[in-house]
Amino acid sequence: MSFSHKKLYVIFPAAGSGTRMKSDKNKLLMEVGSIPVIDRTLTAFRKFADESGIELHSILVVSPGKTEEWASYIKDRDYASIVDTITEGGDTRTKSVGNGVSSLSDPDFPVPGPDDAVFIHDAARCLIDSDSLLRCLEAISDDGTDVCVSGVKTKNTIKMVKSGTTFVESTPDRDLLYEVQTPQCFKYSVLKECYERAQTDGFEATDDTALAEHYGYKVRIIEGSYSNIKITTPEDIVIAEALLKNMQ
Ligand code: C5P
Repeated sequence: MSFSHKKLYVIFPAAGSGTRMKSDKNKLLMEVGSIPVIDRTLTAFRKFADESGIELHSILVVSPGKTEEWASYIKDRDYASIVDTITEGGDTRTKSVGNGVSSLSDPDFPVPGPDDAVFIHDAARCLIDSDSLLRCLEAISDDGTDVCVSGVKTKNTIKMVKSGTTFVESTPDRDLLYEVQTPQCFKYSVLKECYERAQTDGFEATDDTALAEHYGYKVRIIEGSYSNIKITTPEDIVIAEALLKNMQ
């Protein structure tokens, strides 16, 4: 492996309301192949760090009022060595990740250096694999990329509609379209600047690298994986279990 980093920093946004799962149970505690989603996600990162010989430091961003509950879960399941901080999220993804970014400079966190790679990874993407993580880390470490996002070429034709209607306005060329996922990775100095500016401006986006685009940074798409789905609706559990069988 060619990257130069000794530490891997990760923010795991996990403060979503999970309403699309239509369950009383937190979707991160639902099981995929008998293992809770959150355990699969954390274990995938721990495996990657162990394989790569780098130290993993992470922040789990959870729903307001749930930090103590999550702290016990993390301690009981022996994840305390990789989850350094548990912090409260906000009512949007941008606010949740923003709180995670602020926690990276907490005195009890091993603050990243300006050029260190910081990953943001949806806690709900529990089938993330080491190869995808490695491709992102190598991009930030070795080719001078400041910001990158995992993505896959869309398999479907996408139509753009006129705002507020179902009338088609255009059909973008499918060869130019990627569906993006997490991990999304930034050099720490760029991440900090983007989130501080977004907080001041009240700028919101559904993905993190859109902030970098907004503030004029070049964002590279790195090959992701079609298996790296986000557990969002009940059928995603069924799909994830089928994918898991194929990955084993
Ligand atoms: O809403 P979406 O499905 O895009 O959420 C992706 C990830 O962001 C999930 O892991 C979810 O828990 C997290 N999230 C968050 N805070 C919010 C909304 C979503 O941490 N307010």
